[in-house]
Amino acid sequence: MTSREPETAASPKFAPDTLVVETGRPPRTDGASVNPPIDLSSTFVSTGDIDASPYAYARFDTPAWSPFEEALGSLEHSALPGLVFGSGLAAISAVISLVPAGGTLVIPTHSYQGALASAEQIAHRQGFDLVTVDIADTEAVIAALDEASTRTAAADAAAASAGEGRVGSESGLGMLWIESPTNPMLEVADVPALTTAARDRGFLVTVDNTFATPLLQTPLDLGADIVVHSVTKYLAGHSDVVLGAALTSSVELRERLHTERSMRGAIAGPFEVWLALRGLRTLAVRLDRAQANAQAIAERLTAHAGVVETRYPGLLDDPGHARASEQMSGFGAIIAFTVDTAEKATAIAEAVRLWTPATSLGGVESLIERRRRHPSEPVTVPEGLIRLSVGIENLEDLWADLEAALG
Ligand SMILES: Cc1ncc(COP(=O)(O)O)c(C=O)c1O
Repeated sequence: MTSREPETAASPKFAPDTLVVETGRPPRTDGASVNPPIDLSSTFVSTGDIDASPYAYARFDTPAWSPFEEALGSLEHSALPGLVFGSGLAAISAVISLVPAGGTLVIPTHSYQGALASAEQIAHRQGFDLVTVDIADTEAVIAALDEASTRTAAADAAAASAGEGRVGSESGLGMLWIESPTNPMLEVADVPALTTAARDRGFLVTVDNTFATPLLQTPLDLGADIVVHSVTKYLAGHSDVVLGAALTSSVELRERLHTERSMRGAIAGPFEVWLALRGLRTLAVRLDRAQANAQAIAERLTAHAGVVETRYPGLLDDPGHARASEQMSGFGAIIAFTVDTAEKATAIAEAVRLWTPATSLGGVESLIERRRRHPSEPVTVPEGLIRLSVGIENLEDLWADLEAALG
């Protein structure tokens, strides 16, 4: 009889493709389940100080979440378990709520549109500034951080001379939000340079690691304070779950996000988390296959006469290729390519027979979507831009279908 030691993220025992299979399992005792059970209890036996109980009430914490949260902590190289949320956007909103009144959130112009919309709403409600930047332009991002610091310092000084207490400086100046690669433009940020610049200036840094997954990029190692995921996508991997997660570099940040989750109640259901852990087991093989397909399809798209531009960080001449090669261990499986009109893009998405025309990404099945069909997509995303989420089907079948639709 042996017992499994919990993985601490700081020193993972195994390679990531082993960890996805190995983490978050019950202790190895005779007769124990190999997989964690689905715990549906809403409340747990507890006496005395409620905060001393590991589990007391399922809105705060539940054994239904713990194995998945531990697995994510190990994979993202956090010393702490992750926090699972009811959706990626719930995790994003909780994190954005940490930006103090009077501070600034600097966010990529081409962030996932839901993150942008949530940021706008929370900024308005909470009273902080929202600044959008080209996240691939490191100098422009640093200039935006400098301007934000100056603005907050001036507001602090004005408030002090008017005898009012203030603002951002006690809880930080705000936050730099990084998405890399971005959705849907596939821009690649210089993550280490930006985390250093932001932290030197007193900003927290959050990275949305949905596209890369912890198998291709571990932002906490690159200096981020918080990582968020739409677990809905690659981590769960089968387009049958909506779920999110946040990982933190410190106990204090984890506690603040835990409070956000408990107080707003944006929690995950036990079955969804169980499905996500089951999906996670095959992340490495799914990603290997999807990436190999994506690389080949991106190369073929660049050579296609009907395609104006193809963005995929794995292409040698992609503007993000050098950076992605430095900070990622693979290029992912999302491609953005542009045709010359919205009508052509729509016709392509309607003509495919194997690819599924649908929003979302990261499942085993290949999806295709003209992004500007979403009214809320930033207007700087070209009308003819098509996002491909490349799945794990046979490459030649995928290409034949796409080529026919392009033709
Ligand atoms: C990069 C990224 N982050 C976050 C989200 C939001 O996740 P969810 O749909 O699970 O709320 C999405 C959804 O498409 C996404 O693409």
